Amino acid sequence: MILIVDFGGETVNLIAKRIRDAGVFTQIVPHTEVMEAVEQYHPNGVILTGDLEKGSDDEPAIDQRVYELGVPVLGIGYAMKRMAMDLGGSVEESENLEYEPVDTTFDNQSRMLKHMDVQSLTWMSRGYSVTRVPEGFIAIAATEHLPTVAMEDSTRELYAIQFHPEVESTSQGKDILERFLFKVVRMEPNWTMASIAKEKIEEIKARVGDKKALCALSGGVDSSVAALLVHQAIGKNLTCVFVDHGLMRKQEGDEVMEKYGKYFDMNIIRVDAKERFLTKLKGVTDPEQKRKIIGEEFIRIFEEESRKLGDIDFLVQGTIYSDVVESGTGSSQIIKSHHNVGGLPEEMGFELIEPLRTLYKDEVRTLGEEIGLEHDFVWRQPFPGPGLAIRVLGEVTEEKLDILREADAIFREEIAKAGLKEKIWQYFAILPNIRSVGVKEGGRSYTHAIALRAVHSSDGMTSDWARIPYDVLEKISSRIVTEIPDVNRVMLDITTKPPSTIEWE
Ligand code: XMP
Repeated sequence: MILIVDFGGETVNLIAKRIRDAGVFTQIVPHTEVMEAVEQYHPNGVILTGDLEKGSDDEPAIDQRVYELGVPVLGIGYAMKRMAMDLGGSVEESENLEYEPVDTTFDNQSRMLKHMDVQSLTWMSRGYSVTRVPEGFIAIAATEHLPTVAMEDSTRELYAIQFHPEVESTSQGKDILERFLFKVVRMEPNWTMASIAKEKIEEIKARVGDKKALCALSGGVDSSVAALLVHQAIGKNLTCVFVDHGLMRKQEGDEVMEKYGKYFDMNIIRVDAKERFLTKLKGVTDPEQKRKIIGEEFIRIFEEESRKLGDIDFLVQGTIYSDVVESGTGSSQIIKSHHNVGGLPEEMGFELIEPLRTLYKDEVRTLGEEIGLEHDFVWRQPFPGPGLAIRVLGEVTEEKLDILREADAIFREEIAKAGLKEKIWQYFAILPNIRSVGVKEGGRSYTHAIALRAVHSSDGMTSDWARIPYDVLEKISSRIVTEIPDVNRVMLDITTKPPSTIEWE
């Protein structure tokens, strides 16, 4: 594997992605934990990377033993400056701040840049210039203003580039990264989903043996893929608990049960907790309070079920890599945490199995397809843990949930018919809890309004509203007001996130 050591900045995830896409397994660790990580992973090669904020005085250091590992080390961006300073070169502040791709000349006889075109564009990490390379190194690339934008010591297997190979604007970036992976480190591109699935299944088998495991299944992609993987490893020794809180979309609960019970022959307990949740939610209108109540009730039910089963040693969770990164294990900023079935309390006394902890969302999806989950199921849109309770504004009642479910089903059906299903990140209906006056069947009506929300996003952190063609919207609107007696008005939400959020509560 390749260890990526993170000095901060925004590009680290993209580098990891590029390396994984090339078929090589990689993990990101903070620069402060490099030697522990080396011990844990025994990497074949190490990439040090990061960018400092403009004007930052804080120049993070690194354990000097990283340069003596005996495996190839590549420094990128700020890490080239770090390497040059640590090993005795000279570095100066540079006024030549390049804000666009810059013409760069490569020494294509060097080990790192062999066979590259001699001249191409690169996107430079700004603010410094290596004016003298450390002893043992040679300069292997330059621009008009910067004499050394890449350097190598092929005896000690230390390499560095000031520019970013992972961005599109560095035209030979992909070739350079692949050269490092396959020719310098001599990796094989064998990190495929088939090999990962096989490896994970073997690992879980060895770890769990004849013991028993429990999994909270939400119907979402992550918990589904985690459950299926563990099921393929230990079969009937896995029991899944699917808490049907009555806040799912139309027919969703049945679909989940059918898929896993019949199709995969898994042990699943469906806990029909609709009444329990609705009773707890009675009279509650505050969004945060709703979320809290649902989260807590979920945990209580899960605890009760696991007590009934007894004799369970492992708990399976669908934690994925972005959950790990977003909760701040790396140097990257903490962004946000959501309530979902992944957040069961630790004091339940189980050992955790988190087979997707090293994978990104799209990798989880590919893995899901690899182990036999059908395409449609794998590519379902994200659905929040608290379900429709945060799409019915104000008090949640069965009557309002039913209206919303029907409207949402029509919306989804028409989007599918229009061939837009996989083109929109998320699309759903909201019941804003307002009534308005209308005319229906020749008389006055005073019934609910429905809002439609459809957004494009790549990670849910920001979003833009989807421009659904007018004729598709027309069909959706007319079907909703015709087919649902209690709705006489349809609205479209045309706000971006920020300042809105994707969900209304
Ligand atoms: P917001 O509304 O914060 O949503 O813009 C961003 C993304 O997260 C989903 N979401 C949740 N997912 N538990 C989840 O598992 C939650 O409590 C939750 N709240 C929002 C939302 O659907 C969107 O994809």
